[in-house]
Amino acid sequence: MTTFATLASRNEIAAAAAMLRAGGVVAFPTETVYGLGADVCNPAAVKRIFEIKGRPFDHPLIVHIADSSKLQHWAEDVPEQAWLLAERFWPGPLTLILPRSRRISKNITGGQDTVGLRVPSHPVALALLDALGPEGAVAAPSANRFGHVSPTTAAHVREELGDSVDMVLDGGPCEVGLESTIVGFEGQGSQKSHRENSRAIIFRPGGIPLAALAEVLNGNIAMAEKPNHTQRVPGALASHYAPATPLELCPREYLPLRSLELELKGVNLGIVTWSAQCTEQLNHWERNNVMHFPMPPAPESYGRLLYATLRRLDNQGFDRLLIEALPDEPEWTAVMDRLRRASCNDVKTNSKDEAVYG
Ligand code: TXA
Ligand code: MG
Repeated sequence: MTTFATLASRNEIAAAAAMLRAGGVVAFPTETVYGLGADVCNPAAVKRIFEIKGRPFDHPLIVHIADSSKLQHWAEDVPEQAWLLAERFWPGPLTLILPRSRRISKNITGGQDTVGLRVPSHPVALALLDALGPEGAVAAPSANRFGHVSPTTAAHVREELGDSVDMVLDGGPCEVGLESTIVGFEGQGSQKSHRENSRAIIFRPGGIPLAALAEVLNGNIAMAEKPNHTQRVPGALASHYAPATPLELCPREYLPLRSLELELKGVNLGIVTWSAQCTEQLNHWERNNVMHFPMPPAPESYGRLLYATLRRLDNQGFDRLLIEALPDEPEWTAVMDRLRRASCNDVKTNSKDEAVYG
């Protein structure tokens, strides 16, 4: 893990806190991805976040707090399961969806009566929250334009948002590299009688594996079903977390044939593999219009590098990214979720001569 000495200095963190208090917008590191922060209690600053990102106003923001002792300040009717998860996983890559307290205005929650709360574990994020005092909280989505790949370094934020942000705190590359796991609870806000035993629902897989959550909740947890159009949760949109270059997921056994097929059509191709078998095979495959990018075979390290890799590939002018499909195993769920969403626009625009995998 990065040490504090190489991160933003205490003076910079104090300046960022002052900037937030004065209504500024500050990008800061978390262990998952960089966030674009504003003081929760400043509606004008919160509005600027939506404008900078180009994000629809009905798409809720996550509120970052310093520790779980202030949970009831920002949320109401916190169920027992939420306390258990907070105790076990905070600070860390977990966002809890809870009924909002009146201190959280609807401009933060996209008009909904629930709020997403999280205590990040990155030392710079925690120092920033600490500097804001016990009643401080920072509303922060990922610091990228709406629908695009999240930033995992300060340089990514600067490249993407430039001068539209008042300050960027540098905390080095993010350790997790994928956004937080988002967990809500069935019957939230309404059916209060069922609340204590209500089932936890994973709205977005992320930094915390399902098995670890299930262990704390005695298995009383499930993945969300396909969101309906009234829910403003991550999966409700066709394309998200996407690079600009069309991205195609391809099962391992089809990958050599598919790359040859595209190569013969003159498509400039970036191929991303992870398995030893495919990586080895593709190492002997590089041609003029095909470049190969091996990724680590473990889900945590793949996840850490994914967004930085997609950004790098986006800058190389490929016509297409061909990505080796990932194992259908629980540890890979979060990475797979992001790649599926990243590939959505490609699926939609695929013309009929494209290969279909059965
Ligand atoms: O790791 C993370 O969660 C990062 C870092 C910066 O904390 N943040 C992040 O925020 O990924 P954002 O806004 O890019 O994604 C948050 C997702 C949104 O897609 C939103 O739909 C969902 O969280 N969300 C927030 N509040 C919600 C709520 N009350 N109900 C349902 N979904 C909510
Ligand atoms: Mg985001």
